[in-house]
Amino acid sequence: MNLFISFLQKTIGQKIVVGLTGLGLCLFVLIHMLGNLLILSGPEAYNNYAYKLHDFPGLLLLEFGLFIFFIGHILLSILLQLKNKKAKGSISYQKEAQGIKKTNFIHKFILSQGILLLIFLVLHLWSFKFGTYYETELNGKKVRDIYLLVVENFQKPLYTFGYSFILLILFNHLLRGFPASFKTLGLSHPLYVSWIEKLAWFFSLIVTFGFLAPIWYIYIYL
Ligand code: HEM
Repeated sequence: MNLFISFLQKTIGQKIVVGLTGLGLCLFVLIHMLGNLLILSGPEAYNNYAYKLHDFPGLLLLEFGLFIFFIGHILLSILLQLKNKKAKGSISYQKEAQGIKKTNFIHKFILSQGILLLIFLVLHLWSFKFGTYYETELNGKKVRDIYLLVVENFQKPLYTFGYSFILLILFNHLLRGFPASFKTLGLSHPLYVSWIEKLAWFFSLIVTFGFLAPIWYIYIYL
């Protein structure tokens, strides 16, 4: 335990944890997006998926792990950014004085994007996980009608447009964060950098469109 705490106190340890938790969260968004695609198959398929997920015995442990990943990723990213700012402060001041542009616009806002995603997550859990509990019958059992709640919410323009905006931010965050995680973990050999960047584009586009498809389907057709 002491070894882990002293590892976390070192910048390299913090970077490794941010990289690992980042890749873990990428896996979560991919699985969550695939699950949400079942909305396109109708209420039975989506409610059945949600029911099976809630019936899984290790779910509480997984949810706790997910929570630790989110918190660890966000807190350590903030810490690293603050350290980075402090270390670079004098250099960027010199550069600015010489008229050299500071950081690129998107990179500069990666932390604000992360914080916005965190606010989104709190509101998201509030409206879905802890939202209205409708009931329906599935194979003779009473189960939560999560499909009805999702449809009810995404019929409102505020939800569909708001989520679309957040998904653009998620796209940008994944596009920057995915290759950065590989780099931090020492997995991005110069020979593979362009492949990792292509994979980042592919992954970010798939995840974003995968989330956008069911919500716009609901908004337009249901
Ligand atoms: C845009 C379409 C999305 C839809 C329709 C959607 C739907 C849902 C629903 C219905 C739940 C509750 C599941 C349940 O308790 O049965 C949920 C949980 C959750 N969602 Fe989403 N979600 C979307 C996007 C996202 C995004 C973009 C993220 C993260 C960046 C996210 C993160 C989460 C998390 C962390 C949970 C809690 C998981 C758990 O504890 O089991 N969701 N989502």
